[in-house]
Amino acid sequence: MASFSSTLAICIAITFLLLNQSKAQLNTTFYSNTCPNVSSIVRTVIQQALQSDPRIGASLIRLHFHDCFVQGCDGSILLDNSGTIQSEKDAAPNTNSTRGFDVVDNIKTAVENSCPDVVSCADILALSAESSVSLAGGPSWNVLLGRRDSTTANQAGANASIPSPFESLNNLTAKFSAVGLNNITDLVALSGAHTFGRAQCRLFSNRLYNFSGTGNPDPTLNTTYLVTLRQICPQNGSGFVVTNLDPTTPNTFDNTYFSNLQTNRGLLQSDQELFSTTGAPTISIVNQFSSNQSAFFQSFVQSMINMGNISPLTGSNGQIRSNCRRVNGS
Ligand code: HEM
Ligand SMILES: *[C@@H]1O[C@H](CO)[C@@H](O)[C@H](O)[C@H]1NC(C)=O
Ligand SMILES: *[C@@H]1O[C@H](CO)[C@@H](O)[C@H](O)[C@H]1NC(C)=O
Ligand SMILES: *[C@@H]1O[C@H](CO)[C@@H](O)[C@H](O)[C@H]1NC(C)=O
Ligand SMILES: *[C@@H]1O[C@H](CO)[C@@H](O)[C@H](O)[C@H]1NC(C)=O
Ligand SMILES: *[C@@H]1O[C@H](CO)[C@@H](O)[C@H](O)[C@H]1NC(C)=O
Ligand SMILES: *[C@@H]1O[C@H](CO)[C@@H](O)[C@H](O)[C@H]1NC(C)=O
Ligand SMILES: *[C@@H]1O[C@H](CO)[C@@H](O)[C@H](O)[C@H]1NC(C)=O
Ligand SMILES: *[C@@H]1O[C@H](CO)[C@@H](O)[C@H](O)[C@H]1NC(C)=O
Ligand SMILES: *[C@@H]1O[C@H](CO)[C@@H](O)[C@H](O)[C@H]1NC(C)=O
Ligand SMILES: *[C@@H]1O[C@H](CO)[C@@H](O)[C@H](O)[C@H]1NC(C)=O
Repeated sequence: MASFSSTLAICIAITFLLLNQSKAQLNTTFYSNTCPNVSSIVRTVIQQALQSDPRIGASLIRLHFHDCFVQGCDGSILLDNSGTIQSEKDAAPNTNSTRGFDVVDNIKTAVENSCPDVVSCADILALSAESSVSLAGGPSWNVLLGRRDSTTANQAGANASIPSPFESLNNLTAKFSAVGLNNITDLVALSGAHTFGRAQCRLFSNRLYNFSGTGNPDPTLNTTYLVTLRQICPQNGSGFVVTNLDPTTPNTFDNTYFSNLQTNRGLLQSDQELFSTTGAPTISIVNQFSSNQSAFFQSFVQSMINMGNISPLTGSNGQIRSNCRRVNGS
């Protein structure tokens, strides 16, 4: 009897230990002893990069998003092609589109100079996202840290999991739910990141000329804005030309993205659907964020934390890459 209960006690203890390990939580003080200045190092490099490229903050937060949606926030998007890696950079949502990898390298070099082999590339993306938002006038927050880097990439996963601008609101919602972002507020708040940055004509020009084979433009596109966009993206022009996602305040992180949607000036189909899909639960959230910037900022921070928590590698899983582009020792 005594041995049974002590065996039981040991089993329970081991179960708790294992549960604890598999549920290792990120926290804001993870580097407070090993790299106390990491946030300001990241921020300083981004500030410098912004001098010559006002778009770079937008490009960096997008890397964090595209990282987190594919096998979790594990720096997988940063791995280059190699004998064993089929790079996510060549996946459909990323190719000729994601940018900022050179700036991530510069940040990593600066961080390694202060604290070698300590800070993961996945955490650098999370910290870069926060710095980019706050430097553009958006909210600041304490970033949860302690992610480790993957030794694998998943190009097929990137093709399948990252939302496309041509998808229906139902499909977008399903792709967010698939990574655990099953509250519709996450979709609306995070889409608000389209308050800065650019998009290429090829990703919305179907809306300007022949929407869904109708021979007409997208009826949910503002006709004044349509004229402007047709000038930027002529029918036979290069699909690689870019324009501002937020025509009102292109480089500022604010809530004008949501007032743009109310005047049918969402650039991507996936943007405008949040407001123009009949009966959608997203409409009232767009209205709320449009009328109250603090409400948007508060939800955005919470949703960034939710996104940053998608299946991180922690504890002794994964590794701390010394070069974000390569698995250690390869
Ligand atoms: C809701 C689903 C989403 C779709 C369908 C979507 C789609 C797109 C597309 C098509 C572009 C333009 C890319 C190009 O022209 O090369 C873009 C840009 C961008 N996206 Fe999203 N996105 C979504 C959600 C998000 C989220 C969650 C974030 C971040 C929290 C984000 C941040 C950005 C930023 C900042 C840019 C501009 C990047 C730059 O200028 O380099 N997007 N997005
Ligand atoms: C943060 O997480 C690390 C790793 O799980 C842990 O060692 C550390 O004690 C945590 N810090 C706090 C304040 O919880
Ligand atoms: C922290 O980093 C910033 C930016 O690189 C630098 O200006 C500052 O002197 C650093 N502070 C400490 C205490 O190392
Ligand atoms: C698109 O990407 C391919 C492959 O990386 C490259 O060869 C091509 O030059 C890129 N096109 C543009 C317009 O950037
Ligand atoms: C992902 O999509 C790209 C572009 O469509 C394609 O070239 C590539 O083969 C796809 N990769 C996988 C693993 O399915
Ligand atoms: C929505 O998702 C379904 C199921 O995955 C797919 O068959 C359909 O093509 C998607 N629709 C759009 C517009 O992407
Ligand atoms: C979704 O998130 C919002 C904002 O954080 C919260 O008020 C709401 O209760 C959540 N909804 C559900 C169904 O959990
Ligand atoms: C629009 O696209 C549809 C389907 O691809 C095509 O049949 C039609 O001829 C196009 N209309 C115009 C005006 O280009
Ligand atoms: C675009 O190119 C097609 C075929 O090359 C041509 O028939 C059409 O007139 C051109 N449209 C414009 C607006 O230049
Ligand atoms: C179209 O956009 C203009 C601002 O450029 C705005 O004044 C107008 O109300 C919008 N029209 C509609 C139908 O939303
Ligand atoms: C705006 O949102 C904030 C944060 O959620 C809230 O505290 C405040 O009461 C809201 N203001 C108005 C006018 O509704």
